[in-house]
Amino acid sequence: MLKTLKAQIGEFARDSILTPLCMIGEVIMEMIIPLMMASIIDDGVEKGDIHHIYVVGAWMILAAALGLLFGVMGGRFGARAATGFARNLRRAMYRNIQTFSFSNIDKYSTAGLVTRLTTDVTNLQNAYQMILRMCTRAPVSLIVAMCMAFSISPRLASIYLVAVVVLGICLVFIMSRTFGYFQETFRKYDDLNASVQENVLAIRVVKAYVREDYENEKFKRASGRLRDLFMKAEKILTLNMPLMQLTVYGCILFISWFGAQMIVVGDLTTGNLMSLLNYCMNILMSLMMLSMVFVMITMSRASARRIVEVLNERSDLADGEDPLTQVKDGGIDFEHVGFAYKKGGEEVLTGIDLHIRPGETVGIVGGTGSSKSSLVQLIPRLYDVTEGCVKVGGEDVRRYDLEALRNSVAMVLQKNELFSGSIKKNMRWGNPAATDEEIREACRLAQADDFIQAMPDGYDTHIEQGGSNVSGGQKQRLCIARALLKKPKILLLDDSTSAVDTATDSRIRQAFAQKIPGTTKIIIAQRISSVQDADHILVLDDGKVNGWGTHEELLANNEIYREVYMSQTQGGGDFDQKGED
Ligand SMILES: Nc1ncnc2c1ncn2[C@@H]1O[C@H](COP(=O)(O)OP(=O)(O)OP(=O)(O)O)[C@@H](O)[C@H]1O
Ligand SMILES: [Mg+2]
Repeated sequence: MLKTLKAQIGEFARDSILTPLCMIGEVIMEMIIPLMMASIIDDGVEKGDIHHIYVVGAWMILAAALGLLFGVMGGRFGARAATGFARNLRRAMYRNIQTFSFSNIDKYSTAGLVTRLTTDVTNLQNAYQMILRMCTRAPVSLIVAMCMAFSISPRLASIYLVAVVVLGICLVFIMSRTFGYFQETFRKYDDLNASVQENVLAIRVVKAYVREDYENEKFKRASGRLRDLFMKAEKILTLNMPLMQLTVYGCILFISWFGAQMIVVGDLTTGNLMSLLNYCMNILMSLMMLSMVFVMITMSRASARRIVEVLNERSDLADGEDPLTQVKDGGIDFEHVGFAYKKGGEEVLTGIDLHIRPGETVGIVGGTGSSKSSLVQLIPRLYDVTEGCVKVGGEDVRRYDLEALRNSVAMVLQKNELFSGSIKKNMRWGNPAATDEEIREACRLAQADDFIQAMPDGYDTHIEQGGSNVSGGQKQRLCIARALLKKPKILLLDDSTSAVDTATDSRIRQAFAQKIPGTTKIIIAQRISSVQDADHILVLDDGKVNGWGTHEELLANNEIYREVYMSQTQGGGDFDQKGED
């Protein structure tokens, strides 16, 4: 874990080393000052030597200024190292998430990834800064101040020893009590983020179902639980300060009491008593800081683990050695394909054998959950098969360079998305170099040109996040146009015209047949009318091929197909109702 994190310090290694060095400089200056003060009192004030006061005073100012400088520099280096470290972490995580395959993504929740990228990184950033500054400062300050105190008066300094042990025990007790609570808060953060994320993304659904009150209540509970945990932890932590003050004032009282007696009999000078009192503060503050660093480290350990998990996640779709960069044609072959979403899990596709020639149009129909989406997702290698193989252009998809393959296979996902930005910008996701004319051509093919022209800003119309300001059918057509701009050899439409009216749907298919005859087109649809003029139609049932043929052949031989066709032509019905009911 530490090795992975260390690699992310990168160019900020210099700052990370300079910070503790500056902190040591600051401590040394802090330690010298009480000594000088003692000298001013004992050799200057008591002996009436004004010159000595001036000289030592000047050195003291210098030491203080240096101490300040070291402190400021340490702070700056520390901040730079910690923020840089956090930036590197975020970048590395983000970059790695981009390489995730669909099955990697299935493993993490979106909310979980967001928490890891934000809260967890911030935690680690704070902890890192604290560690850089305090991990050397506190122990060095504690030890040096202790040595100084002992060199002045071992008898009085032993009071500190007792105080350190007592305070130490109390702090360990406090920290161990709070640690459990802090651990718990991270789990609650995930819940809270999940709740916010889900709710905000689906805010329209929440409103449609008038679930605001329920959602408010749910959020209130989640944030209330978080508050309770923090309150519990903080309640114990507030004991820190009074405990600290009790010890400090106790020490001062004892030192003054015994010190005064020693001064009277001449065992101690007034100046030395002053220094001792100064070290008192140093020693106990260092102990306090150490305990805080300890809390920080334990608190950030959970965050660090969650970050490293994302950093070390490897995409399970690695390119093979010497990958192919050219897809020969749009032919597709499924050979004895079996597929399960989880290794060793239940197969959602079994024994699939299909051969599709380049340029063919193939329709896929079947009830919901019959694995239509699962089947086509194997073609652009969004998932890998668990058995058999899928070939594109005569070659196993695993032999291709992933980018080359996905550029040749355009897929309009069932749950597709538009991004915030103009229509043109969205279209250029398909092909960054597309000219305006090419964009229009693609939109014409997808029957989107008309409604885009009718919009006030035409192709420069701004699309809101998730495409919330266009209708469902418009969004689907924009997504088809975007896929067409890739000029793919294979076009996969997963229920992509479900929200488009039948007439427009038919015009889209006509345009495809005329304008892109060489492209292999695979169309998943619920409506028979969307696929009936395809070269072949595949009927899927429960992950298995139930029928394969033309519309006429299937009408004659395939029971499922015939029933659904009858029910749809006689009004209503779809693949789940199989026509009987
Ligand atoms: N990401 C996933 N992880 C695990 N199981 C999944 C995943 N996606 C789908 N499944 C399962 O795979 C099976 C087939 O789902 P699939 O989405 O392929 O059906 P479909 O035919 O496309 O249905 P629909 O017509 O509703 O889109 C279902 O039982 C579903 O629960
Ligand atoms: Mg589907």
